Amino acid sequence: KPSAIPVITIDGPTASGKGTVACRVAAVLGWHVLDSGALYRLTALTCIKRGIGIHQVGQIADAAAYLDVVFKGDEILMHGQDVTAAIRQEAVGEFASRVAALEPVRAALLARQREFRQAPGLVADGRDMGTVVFPDAHLKVFLIASARARAERRYKQLIEKGFSANIDEISRDLEARDARDSQRLHAPLTPAQDALRLDSSALDVDQTVNQVLDWYKDRTQAV
Ligand code: DC
Repeated sequence: KPSAIPVITIDGPTASGKGTVACRVAAVLGWHVLDSGALYRLTALTCIKRGIGIHQVGQIADAAAYLDVVFKGDEILMHGQDVTAAIRQEAVGEFASRVAALEPVRAALLARQREFRQAPGLVADGRDMGTVVFPDAHLKVFLIASARARAERRYKQLIEKGFSANIDEISRDLEARDARDSQRLHAPLTPAQDALRLDSSALDVDQTVNQVLDWYKDRTQAV
């Protein structure tokens, strides 16, 4: 029997704006938020720090299973250390996309992701929120944006956070990561059958957030 606690899932490719939209929708509804990509990034950061390579699958899965992480508002603490900025580095995102292709790593993170489903509700963003982690979600959104729009957003994010960035390089990296996330065997990036597609290329954050909220209202009123 599906849990009564409502979930909205927002899946989509890298830099489609999922994280921002998920946080804003959660803030409006007063719900919890799960940034599932952060768990893959934290696993990647742990491996990089410990010198664990991509072929050491058992050790990577252990790192995922025993992540000592606390989500404190906008801050992410690992072993009590603030890693909020560290996990956003491109090198960490790149390695995260590689560890995310490993089935034992995904299995190790599954239960932990479901623990975020707490009253009064959850907005979860990632790649497989609607397909694998919360298949009974009340609303599933598949958020897309053109490659150019995504590269520009990622570029602005990095510059604002004080990192140096090159837009052509970002474009190439985004495409490589999308290809890997979409073509992998386990839980690839793909819209759930019952997901609603939302193209945010020409929308600002408010418009995107409002569309998601309108869809959710339609769903709850229709019942
Ligand atoms: O959304 P993000 O860029 O923070 O995610 C980092 C990587 O983690 C991404 O390349 C794919 C992977 N990921 C995943 O496989 N499944 C998720 N639910 C979320 C992220």
